[in-house]
Amino acid sequence: MSTLHLSFLFLFLFLCLSSTVHSIGVNYGTLANNLPPPAQVANFLKTQTIIDRVKIFDNNPDILRAFANSGIAVTITIGNGDIPRLTTLIEARRWVVANIKPFHPQTRINYIAVGNEVLHWGDQNLISNLVPAMKTIYHALIREGINDIKVTSPSSLGILRRSQPPSTGRFWPGQDKQVLAPMLQFLRESKGPFMANPYPYFGYSPKQENYALFKRNRGMPDRYTGIVYTNMFDANMDAVHSAMKALGYGDVNIVVGETGWPSVCEGPPCSPQIASQYNYNLVNHVESGKGTPLMPNRTFETYLFALFNENLKPGPTAERNWGLFQPDFTPVYNAGVMRNQQGGSSGGGGSVAPAPGRKWCVPKPGATNQQLQANIDYVCSSGLDCKPIQPGGACFKPNDIRAHASFVMNSYFQAQGRHDFNCDFSHTGVITSVDPSYGTCKYAS
Ligand SMILES: *[C@@H]1O[C@H](CO)[C@@H](O)[C@H](O)[C@H]1NC(C)=O
Repeated sequence: MSTLHLSFLFLFLFLCLSSTVHSIGVNYGTLANNLPPPAQVANFLKTQTIIDRVKIFDNNPDILRAFANSGIAVTITIGNGDIPRLTTLIEARRWVVANIKPFHPQTRINYIAVGNEVLHWGDQNLISNLVPAMKTIYHALIREGINDIKVTSPSSLGILRRSQPPSTGRFWPGQDKQVLAPMLQFLRESKGPFMANPYPYFGYSPKQENYALFKRNRGMPDRYTGIVYTNMFDANMDAVHSAMKALGYGDVNIVVGETGWPSVCEGPPCSPQIASQYNYNLVNHVESGKGTPLMPNRTFETYLFALFNENLKPGPTAERNWGLFQPDFTPVYNAGVMRNQQGGSSGGGGSVAPAPGRKWCVPKPGATNQQLQANIDYVCSSGLDCKPIQPGGACFKPNDIRAHASFVMNSYFQAQGRHDFNCDFSHTGVITSVDPSYGTCKYAS
């Protein structure tokens, strides 16, 4: 095999590895009047973050169109109120033809969530129609020739009558055999996941702060299994697993439909720092592939809540402050989801406060590859050292235009005297106070 072939092989392996390690998604809620257009959101997620899947709470066609050919998978949600009428095949097929077919498969729709936390919020009529609607929508998809979309339904942990210790987790009688067993049977047959929404935030107590935030703590023993739990997330997940297993469905895969921590709320404990600790440590925990004590070596697909702060959400302050990002894409805190924060340079998690006075120049989310390539060409022909972004250089990986442009645009900005206009690059650069360094790639400041 020639050297050229070998380098292609390595490049191929690198691309495979770098594109399969992530399993982090985000809930893209839109109850706000100041959010950027969906196309910008898709571009931002794709180029700046490790997030490669989103979940929306409706089937907004603008969003579905914006994510076409983006490589980002989309979970759409059927509103609770639509559940009863979608129990007939004719209605369900009509719905699929109107709402899925125009976008599939250009937009990769991975799941249809039938309702949201129906067992928690729904009345008896909705609850009894839930599983029939899931099955009917699934059949409607098959009839329309679509067999790569799974049908599921997210549940809050209110479905658990008992969750502690985790091995004793059980569903509520009245919902277990009547609703959850048929749902799990359907999920097993259709190879769909059970979607659960664990929120250690709602289980917080001051004594368990470290346990909730994945920080060092004494742990909580499960006296029936001898397992000592070191974080509440694992305990929640294993409680759900135990409840499923008690019904005979321990083999059905679990996806985390929502989890997160608000950065502002009325009562303690909310701050960008605490939200950062939860989310950053959660992302690392999930991505480590460790799984949980009862589900070892699993990587749970996990949808963080939420992408943006949503200024029109009613209710307590926390409701408007679940976002990882402000509507202008500024991170509210470090959640460990930015591409250029991967690689461990910010290790330990929870780093929020930018270094005072230090600033860096990076590409704007909307800048195109063509513009960014022009910036690289310009900077590298101006005499600046571009070796770090060449093969073997500290900033060569990830080998993509945005990452390379980011490094050299900053080098130029710093070398020219750090004036705002040194970061203009025909309106494609923006100054940030968040250090973009990662791994071995150190940005000048
Ligand atoms: C999980 O991974 C560890 C380390 O690779 C291995 O020793 C263990 O047997 C695995 N456990 C299961 C249940 O696969």
